[in-house]
Amino acid sequence: MPCPGPTGGSVATERTSDTVDTLESMCGIVGFVGSGSSGTQALDVVLDGLRRLEYRGYDSAGVALQTAQGLVLEKRSGKLGCLESALADDPPPPATTGIGHTRWATHGGPTDANAHPHLAGEGRVAVIHNGIIENFAELKAELVAEGVSFASQTDTEVAAHLLARAFTGTGDLGEAMRVVARRLEGAFTLLGVHADVPDTIVGARRNSPLVVGLGDGENFLGSDVAAFIGHTRQALELGQDQVVVITPHGVEVTDFAGVPVEGRRYVVDWDAAAAEKGGFPSFMAKEINEQPHAVADTLLGRTDPAGRLLLDEVRMDESVLRAVDKIVIIACGTAAYAGMVARYAIEHWCRIPCEVELAHEFRYRDPVVDGRTLVVAISQSGETMDTIMAVRHARELGARVVAICNTHGSTIPRESDAALYTHAGPEIAVASTKAFLAQITACYLLGLYLAQLRGTKAQAEIREILTQLQAMPDKIQKVLDGLGQVRQMARWMADSRSVLFLGRHVGYPVAMEGALKLKELAYIHAEGFAAGELKHGPIALIEPGQPVFVVVPSPKGRDPLHSKVVSNIQEINARGARTIVIAEEGDTDVVPYASDVIHVPAAPTLLAPLVTVVPLQVFACELAAAKGLDVDQPRNLAKSVTVE
Ligand code: M6R
Repeated sequence: MPCPGPTGGSVATERTSDTVDTLESMCGIVGFVGSGSSGTQALDVVLDGLRRLEYRGYDSAGVALQTAQGLVLEKRSGKLGCLESALADDPPPPATTGIGHTRWATHGGPTDANAHPHLAGEGRVAVIHNGIIENFAELKAELVAEGVSFASQTDTEVAAHLLARAFTGTGDLGEAMRVVARRLEGAFTLLGVHADVPDTIVGARRNSPLVVGLGDGENFLGSDVAAFIGHTRQALELGQDQVVVITPHGVEVTDFAGVPVEGRRYVVDWDAAAAEKGGFPSFMAKEINEQPHAVADTLLGRTDPAGRLLLDEVRMDESVLRAVDKIVIIACGTAAYAGMVARYAIEHWCRIPCEVELAHEFRYRDPVVDGRTLVVAISQSGETMDTIMAVRHARELGARVVAICNTHGSTIPRESDAALYTHAGPEIAVASTKAFLAQITACYLLGLYLAQLRGTKAQAEIREILTQLQAMPDKIQKVLDGLGQVRQMARWMADSRSVLFLGRHVGYPVAMEGALKLKELAYIHAEGFAAGELKHGPIALIEPGQPVFVVVPSPKGRDPLHSKVVSNIQEINARGARTIVIAEEGDTDVVPYASDVIHVPAAPTLLAPLVTVVPLQVFACELAAAKGLDVDQPRNLAKSVTVE
């Protein structure tokens, strides 16, 4: 994709419009300080980090380096490659301290001027930001009244000017950042460097992620560990409302009042290779392929020798869990579809009423939740703001919250009463795939654990279901090994204008997930429907040639819904639809009415989504690739939605 033409120079240019139309939101942030002894250049480390963080946002990117000639800034709209080309054309002087940013803006078009870093204090301060400063307008008015002029339309620049002003007043970069942080409202991760404070980066965080990477004679900051995983696996988790100052040999953390605090150290359990494409054409293709491992790893080590489930991480009083009279699953997007799948299993195994709600809806509708409600918050990133706010709301109402999350040290597990981690490994592609399967698996474990605790399933039955679950990774692998037909179909169907997806029971959320994948990756109109709902309206959409994927339950005799879905297929087939049926191996009932049949291995009804969704993921990925689209970085999206 070509880079947009320059809309500004290599330093922030002043804009005449005073309209703030670009609020910073989900972005990738990286910072590096080195001693110089190893010869490591800050630019190399920062660009390497930005490459790994680009999935967080890819509207524009920039770096600021502390050099012998003062701060040097380069920033460009467009993908990271545009910044890299600009830097290659005009290489900056050597530097061992630098910060970098890759941006996803919520409003307004990304420009060079709005890209980060933002300069202040006559170019001696540079700041990058992830989040939204909600009181920027009032702060900006205050600064403008003092004669400060603004070069961008962002809220971030306010923080840069405040930092410059506070440093003039305090002469201490850490204290200056604390002064700034205390004035800001909203969500922010900020990193700042000052030309007069060499070998030092200051950071602050509230409601937005920031992790420290601990090296030998060098230290790092990142929105997540991917920023520095190529250099160190030693990490330090920062808490809410904390300020950190890093130098090559030191890391100091305080709260916003300046009281020293201890961060929690941990070792990242994956390495740089896990965050590379490893020969696959896209991260998404790689992550789809990793799904057998994601499920197997999420199941690993969860039982004792007698086969009883052990969920050590769910450190919640057993009496509390026994008293639970309602479960509410909150999540967004794909994670919410995982919750919808889980609901069928949890209600069936535990006999506890279970609701699934989009986190942003839950938060604002006065939900009936109390001390006997167990809220399950599902999130790959652990940083989805809608889900964070819903978790906080649930806890305020007295509910206990269990987080199901893929990212250690992230906000949602930290703010929940307990966490059950999925072990899917880093998910880089914006479209969630392996995290979805791992989330469903973790929900099954939680459901079985509750059933074991409350005695709603006999131990032998739980063992049997666990054995069936353990067989799922091989079945997923079998699906992956036989998808040539789906790949071909995706190429033929690249010109489709609309694709429908039908499913029933657990097949319904699978249908919705299939539609979401196609929308976000291939920009094709797609809808997922409950197959039983078809005759209540959506069947009017069927016209000759309309592609419809149908997720079919197990054949007759084992699943009573099978014949109902076969009837639905007949109905749409009679109206000329092109029916693409996902059915169990050996299911011949569907063949007469299907244009194409994709067979998947037999699986128990409640576990079947782990195999039936895979062809739909591959279909969307292949179709997007056939259209020449960027599979890993679809337009208008970012990996974690850290704004409400
Ligand atoms: O990080 P989370 O699981 O909380 O993210 C939730 C959704 O934003 C996410 O699943 C989104 O729908 C994906 N782009 C879907 O592929």
